[in-house]
Formats: sequence, C-alpha cells, structure tokens
Amino acid sequence: MKLKIMNNYEELSEEAANIITERIKEKPSLALGVAAGSTPLLLYKKLGERCQRGEVDFSCVRVFCLDVYIGLLPTDPHSFRRSMEENLFSRVNLKKEHINLMDGMAVDIAAECARYDDAVKAVGGLDFLVLGIGTNAHIGFNEPDEVFVADTHVVELSEATRTANARFFENPDDTPSWAISMGIKDIMMTSEVMLMASGASKTEAVYKAVCGDITPFAPASVLQLHRNAHFYLDKAAASRIPEELIKEK
Ligand code: F6R
Repeated sequence: MKLKIMNNYEELSEEAANIITERIKEKPSLALGVAAGSTPLLLYKKLGERCQRGEVDFSCVRVFCLDVYIGLLPTDPHSFRRSMEENLFSRVNLKKEHINLMDGMAVDIAAECARYDDAVKAVGGLDFLVLGIGTNAHIGFNEPDEVFVADTHVVELSEATRTANARFFENPDDTPSWAISMGIKDIMMTSEVMLMASGASKTEAVYKAVCGDITPFAPASVLQLHRNAHFYLDKAAASRIPEELIKEK
C-alpha cells in the first residue's frame, strides 16, 4: 500500500485525474471500476473537462460501477446510475455498451450478482479501480462484518452508512437499506487500486485502513495486502497516520 498525501481536495482530485489519464493512454480499453458518492466528484468533473479538451479518450474504456442501491429505478435521481450518468458518463465519450452496472431492480438478485461477476471476469478483471471509503471503513458497500465476502453480493447497509448517505435524500427515511456490492475478490484482483479520501470525517477510517489490523470489521484494511493499492489522501484525512509511516510509504 502506498500513501500519497496532498494539501487539499483540489490537488487530490487533480493528481487522481492525472493517473487515470495516464492509464487510459497506456491502455485505451482500460477496464475501470468506479465508485459513486461525493469524494470522486471533482475527479469526474476534471476527467470530463479533459475529455472535452481532447486530452483523454474514453471511447474504448469499459466502466464498471462498484455498487448500486436495491429498489431504486435507474432513473431515480438518487440512484447511482443517475448520479454516475450526470457526473461522469455524460461528460466523457464513453460508449453506452461499455457501461456496466448491477440492476438494483432485478427480480432474481442472486442471478444478477452472478451476471456481474461474469461480466468482470469476461474482461479479464479490472485494470484500475477508484474507491472511496466509508466513515466505518467500508469499500464499495462491503460493510464491517465478521467475514470478507468474495463475490458480488447483497448487503444490508449499516446504520453508519445509512446515516452518512441520508444527506443525499430529502427525507432521510428514504435512504435505502439494501444494496448490491462488488465483493472483495474483484477488488483485490484489480491490477491497481486508488482509494481517495478527503476531510476530517474520514480520518478515523483511513487510520484503521492503513495502521489497523487487517480485519473484515474495517474492510478497507484488506488493501494492506493488495500488491498495487494507492491511498490518495488530503492532509485532514491523513492526519492520524504517524509521520514515520508516511515517509516509509
Ligand atoms: C459508493 C461507494 C462507497 C463510497 C463511500 C464514501 O459507490 O462505493 O464506498 O465510496 O461511502 O462515500 P463519499 O465519497 O460520499 O464519502
């Protein structure tokens, strides 16, 4: 695990956009996993601007979303489909057929999870994955639990996650309780992982992920075992990591 500490959210997002631009240049058909949520929003905006200026080309990129809520129509303004559409897909020249998401309205959810794992397998696994981190150290919607779940699966969202995500809903009670998430296997099999965290609300989760025990109770801690995981942090998110560890990494 490597740490990159930037002064602020703007620098963090710029650096993240540089890396993704580079990776797409190296491999135009990059299989790119993406998180929803607020942390990567500026990154996605920057990628959109770069694409419009002709500095990056998404025409062959294959995108895989990390997770979706169960029970929200793709057109629902709160669905991850809609938010990814507005914040990334519509801003870059991605082909529709290269966009992969789980169907949170599927009647047979188990079959839908298996279909998604097969789709990831069919491209040979992900090349690059953008992750955020929950205040409880979740990645994707792999919530703290007694075990790591390998495959794409149904998750009951924890109270911490529902509370954190309630900010996106006019009525907090409308925050969904269930989601589908990519599992730890696809995350760990990804060639390169970039976890982004910004702000003091993530300090504790980042500390657990970087310095704590590797445990499913802090799912991001599993990235300590990943061969090519980079944590892109601003100063606030990194503020509990001891200085010597920052130098070392
Ligand atoms: C969303 C996802 C989540 C978020 C995490 C942080 O697709 O996978 O793990 O990345 O909850 O969310 P924000 O960035 O909104 O703090």
